[in-house]
Amino acid sequence: MAAVGEAKKKRKMGCSGRVALIILTVGWMVRVSNGEGGECSEEFMKLVEKKNMPECKRLRTLGAQFGWRYEYSVRNKSMRTVVDIMFGAPLKFQEGWIAWGVNPGKRAEMVGTRAMVFLKRRNGTWRIDTYNVTKETRNRCILLPSNITLFSNVSIQAEVSNMYTMYARLTLPSDSYNISKLNHVWQVGDAIEEDHPLSHPTTLRNVDSTEVIDLTRTKGPGTGQYRSYLRSVHGVLNIIGWGTLLPIGIIIARYFRVFPFKCDPMWFYLHIGCQLTGFLVGTTGWAIGLSLGHSSRYYTFQAHRTYGILIFTFSTVQMLAFRLKPKETDDYRKYWNMYHHFLGYGLLAIIFLNIFKGINILEGGDAWKWGYIANLALLGAIAFGLEVFTWIHFIAQKQKQKQKQKEDEKTKHTDTSEPQTKHKPLHSIQPIRCLN
Ligand code: HEM
Ligand code: HEM
Repeated sequence: MAAVGEAKKKRKMGCSGRVALIILTVGWMVRVSNGEGGECSEEFMKLVEKKNMPECKRLRTLGAQFGWRYEYSVRNKSMRTVVDIMFGAPLKFQEGWIAWGVNPGKRAEMVGTRAMVFLKRRNGTWRIDTYNVTKETRNRCILLPSNITLFSNVSIQAEVSNMYTMYARLTLPSDSYNISKLNHVWQVGDAIEEDHPLSHPTTLRNVDSTEVIDLTRTKGPGTGQYRSYLRSVHGVLNIIGWGTLLPIGIIIARYFRVFPFKCDPMWFYLHIGCQLTGFLVGTTGWAIGLSLGHSSRYYTFQAHRTYGILIFTFSTVQMLAFRLKPKETDDYRKYWNMYHHFLGYGLLAIIFLNIFKGINILEGGDAWKWGYIANLALLGAIAFGLEVFTWIHFIAQKQKQKQKQKEDEKTKHTDTSEPQTKHKPLHSIQPIRCLN
C-alpha cells in the first residue's frame, strides 16, 4: 500500500513539474513576443535631440521609431496643436518606401490616413511627398501624391545603419485631432514603380502598424499591446491544450491500455483527464483566436482559420466518445475503435501543422518555434522510447512463449506413463501490469 501511495506521489510530482516547466517557458515566450516597444536607439535619439524633441519611443512593429514635441497655438480664434515629429524605419532592400501618417477618423487604420512617404529608388536617389490614403489605395489603385496642408517642412533627415528618417511639422486642428488620442499609422513597403509606392506585405507586422498614441505622455501602454497579449495567450493556450495535453493523452491510451503496460482503469482516467483538460484549454485558446480574427476588420489568416475550425470540430467529435461510445461487447466496437484512432492521429497532424502556422503568423521569433519543437521532441522521444520498449517486450514474450511450448511438448513425449491430457493452452503474451 505504501509503495502504491509513493508511486502516486511521484506521478503527481512528475506532472506538476512538467506543468511548471511549461508555464515558465510560456511566460518567457509571452514576454519575448509582446511587441518591440521600449527606448529609442542611440543614433535615432541623437537626431531627435538635434530637433529639440523631448519624447521618443520605439513603435511595436517594423523596427520603427518615433520622436515628437508638441505645443498648443491659437490661430484665427481656433485652437490647434503644432507637433514636430521624427519617424524612422529600416528598409530591407535596395528600393522601397517608408510611410507615417495620422488618421482623423474613428480608428487608427490605413484608409483615411494623411501620410508622408519616403521612396528610395534602386540607384540610391529618393523622393518624399504627402499622400491621402483612400479606399481605392486598398483596392490597389496607384497611390498619387496630394498636397496636405497639415504637413509642413517635410524632409528626409539621415540614413543611420539602414534606417531612414523623416521629419515634418504638423499643424493639427483641435476639432479633428485629439493629441492625447491620436490615431497614427506607419508602414514599410519593399517595392516602387515609376516613383509610386507599390503595395506593402500583409504579414501581421504590416497590419499591426497602427496605434492610438497619447502625445502628452511618454510612457504607458499603446493600444495594440492588449491585442499582442491576447495573441500570445491564444498561442500559449493552444500549444498547451491541443499541442501538449492531447498528444500526452494519446500516448497514455496507446501504451498503457493493453500493451506493453496494462494499467486498467488508471489509463482511462488519465486519458480522459488529459483529453478533457486539453479540449477545454484548447477551446478557450481557439475562441480567443476567433474573437481576435473577428475583430480584425481587414485581414484574415484563411488557412490558419480553416485548420483551427477543423481542429475544434474533429476534437468535439472525439470528445463525444466520452458518452457515445459503443460497449466493449458490441460487434461494431472494433470498427468504432479504428475510426476513433484514425481520427485521433489525423487530428494530431493538423494540430502540429496549425501550431507552426500560428507561430509563423505571429512572427514571434525563434523562442516560440524552438520552444514548441523542444516540447514535441520530448513527447516524440517518450513515444519512441515506449514504442521500442513495446517491440522489445513483445519479441521477448514471444520467445518465452515458444520456449514454453517446446518444453511442454518435450514433457509430453518423455512422460508416457501419465495419461494423455488435453492440449494445454499456450501462454498468451503478457503485458506488464501496473499497481493501481
Ligand atoms: C502603396 C499602396 C498601398 C496599398 C496597395 C495598400 C494595400 C493594403 C491592403 C490590401 C491592406 C489589407 C491587408 C489584408 O487584407 O490583409 C492594407 C493594410 C494596411 N495598410 Fe496599406 N496599402 C498601401 C499603402 C499604405 C500606406 C502608405 C500606409 C501607411 C500610411 C499603409 C498602412 C496600412 C496598415 C496600417 C494596414 C493594416 C490594416 C488597416 O489599418 O487598414 N498602407 N494595405
Ligand atoms: C492548433 C492550434 C491553433 C488553433 C486551433 C488556432 C486557431 C485560430 C483561429 C480560429 C484564428 C482566427 C483566424 C481568423 O479569423 O483570421 C486564429 C488566429 C491567430 N492565431 Fe491561432 N490557432 C492555433 C495556434 C496558434 C499558435 C500556436 C499561434 C502562435 C504562437 C497562433 C497565432 C495566431 C495569430 C497571431 C492569429 C491572428 C490574430 C489576429 O487576427 O489578430 N495560433 N487562430
